[in-house]
Amino acid sequence: MNKQDTVIEHNSPIVEENSHKVTLNFSDGVTKQFNVQPNKSILDEGLAAGMPLLYQCRSGSCSSCICTLDKGEITTINGESSTLLRSEHELGQRLLCVSQAEADCSIDLAYGSEVGTSSAQEVNAFIDSIEHIGVNTVRLTLELAEGSYMEFRPGQFMQINVPGVGTLRSYSPSSTNKEFPKMEFLIRLIPGGVMSTYLKERAEVDQILTLTGPYGAFFLREEHKRAPHIFVAGGTGLAPILSIIDTIRQLSGVKPKMLLSFGCATPEALFCLDDIQLREQWLPSLEARICVDQGAKEGHYLGNPVSPLQEADVTDPNTVAYLCGPQPMIDGATARLIELGVKAENIFAEQFVASN
Ligand code: FES
Repeated sequence: MNKQDTVIEHNSPIVEENSHKVTLNFSDGVTKQFNVQPNKSILDEGLAAGMPLLYQCRSGSCSSCICTLDKGEITTINGESSTLLRSEHELGQRLLCVSQAEADCSIDLAYGSEVGTSSAQEVNAFIDSIEHIGVNTVRLTLELAEGSYMEFRPGQFMQINVPGVGTLRSYSPSSTNKEFPKMEFLIRLIPGGVMSTYLKERAEVDQILTLTGPYGAFFLREEHKRAPHIFVAGGTGLAPILSIIDTIRQLSGVKPKMLLSFGCATPEALFCLDDIQLREQWLPSLEARICVDQGAKEGHYLGNPVSPLQEADVTDPNTVAYLCGPQPMIDGATARLIELGVKAENIFAEQFVASN
Protein backbone atom coordinates (compact mmCIF):
# COMPACT_ATOMS: atom_id res chain seq x y z
CA MET A 1 0.00 0.00 0.00
CA ASN A 2 1.35 3.46 -0.86
CA LYS A 3 1.01 6.40 1.48
CA GLN A 4 -1.06 8.17 -1.20
CA ASP A 5 -3.58 5.33 -1.09
CA THR A 6 -4.25 5.55 2.63
CA VAL A 7 -7.18 7.08 4.40
CA ILE A 8 -5.97 9.46 7.08
CA GLU A 9 -7.61 8.80 10.41
CA HIS A 10 -8.07 11.77 12.80
CA ASN A 11 -8.43 10.71 16.41
CA SER A 12 -8.50 14.02 18.31
CA PRO A 13 -11.87 15.64 17.72
CA ILE A 14 -11.27 18.56 20.11
CA VAL A 15 -8.55 20.82 18.72
CA GLU A 16 -7.30 23.26 21.33
CA GLU A 17 -5.47 26.49 20.66
CA ASN A 18 -1.67 26.08 20.43
CA SER A 19 -1.99 22.36 19.80
CA HIS A 20 0.03 20.78 17.01
CA LYS A 21 -1.04 18.13 14.56
CA VAL A 22 1.08 14.95 14.58
CA THR A 23 0.92 12.60 11.59
CA LEU A 24 2.12 9.03 12.16
CA ASN A 25 3.33 7.10 9.10
CA PHE A 26 3.32 3.36 9.87
CA SER A 27 5.49 1.00 7.83
CA ASP A 28 2.42 -0.73 6.33
CA GLY A 29 1.42 2.56 4.64
CA VAL A 30 -1.29 3.43 7.16
CA THR A 31 -1.32 7.07 8.28
CA LYS A 32 -2.99 8.36 11.45
CA GLN A 33 -3.23 11.85 12.93
CA PHE A 34 -3.83 13.32 16.38
CA ASN A 35 -3.31 16.62 18.17
CA VAL A 36 -0.84 17.29 20.97
CA GLN A 37 -0.72 20.10 23.50
CA PRO A 38 2.53 22.05 23.99
CA ASN A 39 4.86 20.59 26.66
CA LYS A 40 3.02 17.25 26.63
CA SER A 41 4.62 13.93 25.74
CA ILE A 42 3.74 12.94 22.18
CA LEU A 43 3.51 9.31 23.36
CA ASP A 44 1.05 10.14 26.17
CA GLU A 45 -1.09 12.26 23.88
CA GLY A 46 -0.99 9.62 21.14
CA LEU A 47 -1.98 6.79 23.49
CA ALA A 48 -4.80 8.93 24.91
CA ALA A 49 -6.02 9.42 21.33
CA GLY A 50 -5.97 5.64 20.78
CA MET A 51 -2.87 5.50 18.54
CA PRO A 52 -1.28 2.01 18.27
CA LEU A 53 2.16 3.14 19.49
CA LEU A 54 4.81 0.87 20.96
CA TYR A 55 6.27 1.82 24.34
CA GLN A 56 7.44 0.31 27.61
CA CYS A 57 9.38 2.44 30.16
CA ARG A 58 7.80 5.82 29.28
CA SER A 59 10.95 7.47 30.66
CA GLY A 60 13.42 7.62 27.76
CA SER A 61 15.48 4.58 28.61
CA CYS A 62 14.24 1.53 26.68
CA SER A 63 13.98 2.91 23.09
CA SER A 64 10.71 1.03 22.49
CA CYS A 65 9.03 4.27 21.38
CA ILE A 66 11.73 5.23 18.85
CA CYS A 67 10.60 7.00 15.67
CA THR A 68 12.12 9.06 12.87
CA LEU A 69 11.12 12.69 12.37
CA ASP A 70 10.09 13.24 8.75
CA LYS A 71 8.89 16.88 8.92
CA GLY A 72 8.34 19.46 11.64
CA GLU A 73 10.13 20.02 14.91
CA ILE A 74 10.33 17.86 18.02
CA THR A 75 12.32 18.68 21.15
CA THR A 76 13.00 16.84 24.40
CA ILE A 77 10.62 17.87 27.20
CA ASN A 78 12.29 20.00 29.89
CA GLY A 79 13.66 17.86 32.69
CA GLU A 80 13.52 14.65 30.62
CA SER A 81 16.47 12.91 29.02
CA SER A 82 16.85 10.53 26.13
CA THR A 83 19.35 7.70 25.72
CA LEU A 84 19.67 8.36 21.98
CA LEU A 85 23.15 9.03 20.68
CA ARG A 86 23.99 12.25 18.90
CA SER A 87 24.42 10.25 15.65
CA GLU A 88 20.91 8.79 16.04
CA HIS A 89 19.51 12.25 16.76
CA GLU A 90 21.21 13.59 13.64
CA LEU A 91 19.53 10.80 11.62
CA GLY A 92 16.19 12.21 12.84
CA GLN A 93 15.51 9.57 15.48
CA ARG A 94 13.50 10.62 18.54
CA LEU A 95 11.93 8.94 21.59
CA LEU A 96 8.23 9.80 21.66
CA CYS A 97 7.83 9.37 25.44
CA VAL A 98 10.18 12.25 26.28
CA SER A 99 9.45 14.42 23.23
CA GLN A 100 7.12 17.34 22.62
CA ALA A 101 6.01 18.84 19.30
CA GLU A 102 7.10 22.42 18.55
CA ALA A 103 5.12 22.52 15.27
CA ASP A 104 2.94 20.25 13.15
CA CYS A 105 5.00 17.08 12.64
CA SER A 106 5.18 14.04 10.43
CA ILE A 107 6.75 10.97 12.06
CA ASP A 108 7.84 7.67 10.49
CA LEU A 109 7.45 4.46 12.52
CA ALA A 110 9.38 1.30 11.64
CA TYR A 111 6.42 -0.97 12.43
CA GLY A 112 2.98 -1.57 11.01
CA SER A 113 -0.23 -0.11 12.40
CA GLU A 114 -1.34 -3.52 13.72
CA VAL A 115 1.75 -4.12 15.86
CA GLY A 116 0.99 -1.68 18.69
CA THR A 117 -2.61 -2.84 19.07
CA SER A 118 -1.68 -5.94 21.09
CA SER A 119 -1.34 -4.83 24.69
CA ALA A 120 0.91 -6.33 27.32
CA GLN A 121 -0.58 -8.93 29.65
CA GLU A 122 0.43 -10.69 32.85
CA VAL A 123 0.82 -14.46 32.99
CA ASN A 124 2.11 -17.04 35.48
CA ALA A 125 4.67 -19.64 34.49
CA PHE A 126 6.33 -22.58 36.23
CA ILE A 127 10.10 -23.02 36.18
CA ASP A 128 10.77 -26.05 33.99
CA SER A 129 14.59 -26.06 34.13
CA ILE A 130 17.58 -23.93 35.15
CA GLU A 131 20.65 -24.84 33.16
CA HIS A 132 24.14 -23.28 33.46
CA ILE A 133 25.35 -23.03 29.87
CA GLY A 134 28.46 -20.83 30.18
CA VAL A 135 30.61 -19.40 32.94
CA ASN A 136 28.10 -16.62 33.49
CA THR A 137 24.95 -17.61 31.59
CA VAL A 138 21.84 -19.53 32.56
CA ARG A 139 19.16 -20.96 30.29
CA LEU A 140 15.84 -20.59 32.11
CA THR A 141 12.96 -22.60 30.66
CA LEU A 142 9.44 -21.78 31.81
CA GLU A 143 6.11 -23.41 31.14
CA LEU A 144 3.09 -21.14 31.12
CA ALA A 145 0.39 -22.09 33.62
CA GLU A 146 -2.69 -23.80 32.24
CA GLY A 147 -5.08 -21.30 30.72
CA SER A 148 -2.32 -18.69 30.19
CA TYR A 149 -1.32 -17.56 26.76
CA MET A 150 1.19 -15.02 25.58
CA GLU A 151 2.02 -14.35 21.95
CA PHE A 152 5.05 -12.26 21.10
CA ARG A 153 6.96 -11.15 18.06
CA PRO A 154 10.43 -12.75 17.82
CA GLY A 155 12.85 -10.21 19.30
CA GLN A 156 10.42 -8.61 21.78
CA PHE A 157 11.00 -8.85 25.52
CA MET A 158 9.08 -9.70 28.71
CA GLN A 159 9.46 -8.46 32.24
CA ILE A 160 9.92 -11.14 34.89
CA ASN A 161 9.04 -10.32 38.49
CA VAL A 162 11.91 -11.59 40.66
CA PRO A 163 10.21 -13.58 43.49
CA GLY A 164 10.64 -12.21 46.98
CA VAL A 165 12.20 -8.98 45.74
CA GLY A 166 9.38 -7.36 43.81
CA THR A 167 11.79 -6.13 41.13
CA LEU A 168 11.18 -6.48 37.42
CA ARG A 169 13.88 -7.59 35.00
CA SER A 170 13.56 -7.58 31.21
CA TYR A 171 14.54 -10.56 29.05
CA SER A 172 13.85 -11.57 25.46
CA PRO A 173 12.80 -15.17 24.84
CA SER A 174 15.25 -17.20 22.75
CA SER A 175 12.29 -19.45 21.87
CA THR A 176 9.41 -18.76 19.49
CA ASN A 177 5.62 -18.91 19.74
CA LYS A 178 5.80 -22.41 18.23
CA GLU A 179 7.27 -23.76 21.50
CA PHE A 180 4.25 -22.55 23.52
CA PRO A 181 3.53 -23.24 26.41
CA LYS A 182 7.32 -23.35 26.93
CA MET A 183 9.40 -20.18 26.90
CA GLU A 184 13.16 -20.07 27.08
CA PHE A 185 15.37 -17.19 28.27
CA LEU A 186 19.15 -16.71 28.32
CA ILE A 187 20.15 -14.83 31.46
CA ARG A 188 23.55 -13.40 32.21
CA LEU A 189 24.64 -13.92 35.81
CA ILE A 190 25.84 -10.68 37.35
CA PRO A 191 27.53 -10.64 40.80
CA GLY A 192 24.96 -9.24 43.24
CA GLY A 193 22.25 -8.96 40.56
CA VAL A 194 18.74 -9.58 41.92
CA MET A 195 17.76 -12.13 39.26
CA SER A 196 21.23 -13.74 39.37
CA THR A 197 21.05 -14.11 43.15
CA TYR A 198 17.55 -15.57 42.88
CA LEU A 199 18.63 -18.07 40.21
CA LYS A 200 21.75 -19.13 42.13
CA GLU A 201 20.30 -19.28 45.63
CA ARG A 202 16.54 -19.72 45.66
CA ALA A 203 15.13 -20.73 42.30
CA GLU A 204 13.77 -24.27 42.01
CA VAL A 205 11.91 -26.26 39.40
CA ASP A 206 8.12 -25.80 39.65
CA GLN A 207 8.33 -22.40 41.36
CA ILE A 208 5.95 -19.86 39.85
CA LEU A 209 7.17 -16.66 38.15
CA THR A 210 5.01 -13.79 36.92
CA LEU A 211 5.72 -12.37 33.47
CA THR A 212 4.32 -9.29 31.75
CA GLY A 213 4.69 -8.45 28.10
CA PRO A 214 5.40 -8.52 25.31
CA TYR A 215 7.18 -5.19 24.94
CA GLY A 216 9.53 -3.54 22.49
CA ALA A 217 9.93 -2.43 18.92
CA PHE A 218 12.82 -4.80 18.17
CA PHE A 219 11.33 -7.71 16.25
CA LEU A 220 11.54 -9.55 12.95
CA ARG A 221 10.29 -7.43 10.05
CA GLU A 222 8.68 -10.09 7.86
CA GLU A 223 8.25 -7.62 4.99
CA HIS A 224 12.03 -7.97 4.44
CA LYS A 225 12.05 -11.76 4.72
CA ARG A 226 13.61 -12.33 1.29
CA ALA A 227 16.47 -9.81 1.74
CA PRO A 228 19.88 -10.92 3.07
CA HIS A 229 20.01 -10.75 6.88
CA ILE A 230 22.95 -9.84 9.12
CA PHE A 231 22.68 -10.54 12.86
CA VAL A 232 25.18 -9.12 15.33
CA ALA A 233 24.84 -10.39 18.90
CA GLY A 234 26.92 -9.72 22.00
CA GLY A 235 26.51 -11.98 25.06
CA THR A 236 22.89 -12.80 25.94
CA GLY A 237 21.87 -10.41 23.15
CA LEU A 238 21.91 -13.74 21.28
CA ALA A 239 18.49 -14.65 22.77
CA PRO A 240 16.21 -12.48 20.58
CA ILE A 241 18.42 -13.23 17.57
CA LEU A 242 17.91 -17.00 18.00
CA SER A 243 14.16 -16.39 18.22
CA ILE A 244 14.28 -14.38 14.99
CA ILE A 245 16.41 -16.99 13.17
CA ASP A 246 14.10 -19.80 14.29
CA THR A 247 11.04 -17.86 13.16
CA ILE A 248 12.61 -17.33 9.73
CA ARG A 249 13.21 -21.09 9.62
CA GLN A 250 9.51 -21.68 10.38
CA LEU A 251 8.30 -19.24 7.67
CA SER A 252 7.36 -20.72 4.33
CA GLY A 253 9.37 -20.10 1.18
CA VAL A 254 13.04 -19.78 0.26
CA LYS A 255 15.24 -18.77 3.18
CA PRO A 256 17.34 -15.60 2.83
CA LYS A 257 21.12 -15.51 3.05
CA MET A 258 21.94 -15.01 6.74
CA LEU A 259 25.10 -14.11 8.62
CA LEU A 260 25.28 -14.37 12.41
CA SER A 261 28.21 -12.76 14.19
CA PHE A 262 28.14 -13.65 17.88
CA GLY A 263 30.69 -12.86 20.52
CA CYS A 264 31.59 -12.94 24.21
CA ALA A 265 34.60 -11.72 26.19
CA THR A 266 36.40 -15.11 26.41
CA PRO A 267 35.97 -18.65 25.00
CA GLU A 268 34.75 -19.79 28.47
CA ALA A 269 31.94 -17.22 28.38
CA LEU A 270 30.61 -18.48 25.02
CA PHE A 271 27.34 -20.47 25.09
CA CYS A 272 24.74 -21.96 22.75
CA LEU A 273 27.47 -22.94 20.25
CA ASP A 274 25.77 -26.31 19.66
CA ASP A 275 22.43 -24.53 19.08
CA ILE A 276 24.10 -22.25 16.53
CA GLN A 277 25.80 -25.18 14.79
CA LEU A 278 22.48 -27.02 14.62
CA ARG A 279 20.86 -24.01 12.97
CA GLU A 280 23.69 -23.88 10.41
CA GLN A 281 22.82 -27.49 9.54
CA TRP A 282 19.09 -26.79 9.36
CA LEU A 283 19.60 -23.59 7.38
CA PRO A 284 22.33 -23.97 4.75
CA SER A 285 21.98 -20.25 3.95
CA LEU A 286 23.11 -19.36 7.51
CA GLU A 287 26.78 -18.71 8.29
CA ALA A 288 27.92 -18.14 11.87
CA ARG A 289 31.09 -16.35 12.99
CA ILE A 290 32.08 -16.75 16.63
CA CYS A 291 34.17 -14.02 18.24
CA VAL A 292 36.00 -13.50 21.53
CA ASP A 293 37.70 -10.38 22.85
CA GLN A 294 40.66 -12.40 24.15
CA GLY A 295 42.04 -15.92 24.16
CA ALA A 296 40.71 -16.84 20.72
CA LYS A 297 40.88 -20.55 19.93
CA GLU A 298 40.80 -22.26 16.57
CA GLY A 299 37.80 -21.14 14.55
CA HIS A 300 37.23 -17.98 16.61
CA TYR A 301 37.54 -14.42 15.37
CA LEU A 302 39.51 -12.14 17.69
CA GLY A 303 37.61 -9.01 18.64
CA ASN A 304 33.99 -8.06 19.17
CA PRO A 305 31.22 -9.31 16.83
CA VAL A 306 31.63 -6.26 14.62
CA SER A 307 35.20 -7.21 13.66
CA PRO A 308 34.36 -10.03 11.19
CA LEU A 309 31.99 -7.88 9.09
CA GLN A 310 33.51 -7.48 5.64
CA GLU A 311 32.72 -5.75 2.35
CA ALA A 312 31.71 -9.07 0.75
CA ASP A 313 28.97 -9.48 3.39
CA VAL A 314 26.87 -6.67 1.92
CA THR A 315 26.25 -7.14 -1.78
CA ASP A 316 22.52 -6.36 -1.80
CA PRO A 317 21.28 -2.81 -1.08
CA ASN A 318 18.18 -4.28 0.62
CA THR A 319 20.19 -6.11 3.30
CA VAL A 320 18.58 -5.89 6.75
CA ALA A 321 20.45 -6.09 10.03
CA TYR A 322 19.41 -6.95 13.59
CA LEU A 323 21.77 -5.98 16.39
CA CYS A 324 21.46 -6.88 20.06
CA GLY A 325 24.10 -6.35 22.72
CA PRO A 326 25.87 -3.63 24.69
CA GLN A 327 25.56 -0.07 23.39
CA PRO A 328 29.21 0.24 22.19
CA MET A 329 28.74 -2.91 20.08
CA ILE A 330 25.52 -1.52 18.61
CA ASP A 331 27.19 1.81 17.81
CA GLY A 332 30.17 0.06 16.20
CA ALA A 333 27.99 -2.36 14.22
CA THR A 334 25.68 0.40 13.01
CA ALA A 335 28.59 2.54 11.80
CA ARG A 336 30.28 -0.44 10.12
CA LEU A 337 27.11 -1.68 8.41
CA ILE A 338 26.29 1.78 7.05
CA GLU A 339 29.88 2.00 5.79
CA LEU A 340 29.38 -1.37 4.05
CA GLY A 341 26.21 -0.13 2.34
CA VAL A 342 23.32 -1.19 4.61
CA LYS A 343 20.62 1.51 4.72
CA ALA A 344 20.16 3.09 8.18
CA GLU A 345 16.42 2.39 8.03
CA ASN A 346 17.13 -1.33 7.55
CA ILE A 347 19.14 -1.60 10.77
CA PHE A 348 17.15 -2.62 13.86
CA ALA A 349 18.81 -2.63 17.25
CA GLU A 350 18.11 -3.45 20.86
CA GLN A 351 20.48 -2.38 23.57
CA PHE A 352 21.29 -4.96 26.20
CA VAL A 353 21.88 -3.40 29.60
CA ALA A 354 23.04 -5.42 32.58
CA SER A 355 21.13 -4.53 35.79
CA ASN A 356 22.23 -5.19 39.35
S1 FES B 1 8.96 4.06 26.09
FE1 FES B 1 10.96 3.55 26.71
S2 FES B 1 12.17 5.08 25.73
FE2 FES B 1 10.14 5.68 25.35
